[in-house]
Amino acid sequence: MSGKVQRERIGRVNAGYFPIPIDALKSSTIDMDLYLIHNGGTAVLYRSKGSAYSISDCDKLRQKGIRHLYIPMGQHRIYQEAMTEMIIDSYEDPSICELERARIVRGSCGRMIEDFMSNPESPSLGETINDLAAQFTTWCTEDKSKFSYLLDMSEHDFYTATHMVNVGVGCGLLGAEILGDDDPMVHDLMLGGLVHDVGKFGVSPDVLNKEGKLSEKDWAMIRGHPEVGANMLKRQGGQNSIIIDMAMSHHERLDGKGYPNSLCGDELSLAVKICTVVDIFDAMTSARPYRGPIPPRVVLDKMREEIGTAIDGEIFAAWERVIERMIVEDPSRAVAETEDVCVPSVCDLMPTLKKEQTENLQADDDDGLVQIRRAGDESIDAELLESDFDHVMVRSDVRFKRSERVLLSLAGESDLIAIFDSSKIGNDGSIYCVFKYAADSSQAA
Ligand SMILES: [Fe+2]
Repeated sequence: MSGKVQRERIGRVNAGYFPIPIDALKSSTIDMDLYLIHNGGTAVLYRSKGSAYSISDCDKLRQKGIRHLYIPMGQHRIYQEAMTEMIIDSYEDPSICELERARIVRGSCGRMIEDFMSNPESPSLGETINDLAAQFTTWCTEDKSKFSYLLDMSEHDFYTATHMVNVGVGCGLLGAEILGDDDPMVHDLMLGGLVHDVGKFGVSPDVLNKEGKLSEKDWAMIRGHPEVGANMLKRQGGQNSIIIDMAMSHHERLDGKGYPNSLCGDELSLAVKICTVVDIFDAMTSARPYRGPIPPRVVLDKMREEIGTAIDGEIFAAWERVIERMIVEDPSRAVAETEDVCVPSVCDLMPTLKKEQTENLQADDDDGLVQIRRAGDESIDAELLESDFDHVMVRSDVRFKRSERVLLSLAGESDLIAIFDSSKIGNDGSIYCVFKYAADSSQAA
């Protein structure tokens, strides 16, 4: 299990206590009680409030294989305030370069989001995220260029907490571009972005990080996260309708093919349209288990094809201006463009964009096979990884030509005409191929 998946699990280990990494505390005197919990058992007091906690204590714990200490839930706000102070100190530290400073701040913000994801209905954690959004808004107003470094366009993995930090930063930057720095909605957009995927709390990390084919049950869980998140935020109280709307509708599309309510056009609010653009951008630029990160300009080119269907043209144009300025100002913050970059489509990279998992396109759960027939009747068996309303991804032993037309046979269904779109060699050496269904059925393979 990867460290990141492990971290997504840890937050749910022991009700009543909060896990904190052993190296998270920076001051020598601690303002909270620290506990040890072995193998999910009883909590044992390790240091009481007011005691000393030093680097050598941290090293001793590490040598024993201990990675987390636990604080009582009631003292969590104290910890969060200490984290917020540390974040501000790092952000304002002139001795650290922009990229490193942004990395440290993003990491700490990601931990705060993880805590919120683990206990989304805790009012104190809601307050903490509100504070974070307020701090982001202040930084964005003071110096947008410096703040923009918090949007990671480099080699980060797609991971829920990191993604939510990025979407919070991006929604604020895009909101400021469209509405102006002083518009009060910029704060709401930051906050809405930071919590937009909180409903993924209810989705197992195994499903979120699954590399292969998702079952119908997995998809049902993923499709439910907007509604789960919106309901959590409603129950928490104090969140305004903009934030709840962003959580509920960030997977809706202009053409009505999104979920959960198939809204379209004017039924989508400005905040939702902003969140969708930033959400897709971050999902596409970040690395996945089966491919590396995609350079931002390549992603923008691909997203442009979705104007009027998935995303709004004016909002996308504003986002392009934001990203272009950032790259021109400091090209080192973006993944470099290379000749042979693989360019997947928006839907391939954005499982969150998936429409109803079209049951009739899903291969038999028992074998998950697809037959691919090329011109000349050569037939190839491939493993179905995922399918959607406009594409299918398979694992295959065979390479395809650019724009090659094929017939896809999925269990129990009539053949579908598809066009080869892109491929990538995974870490395991497999070839991942993406086909888009052809709209024009007159052109068989
Ligand atoms: Fe989402």
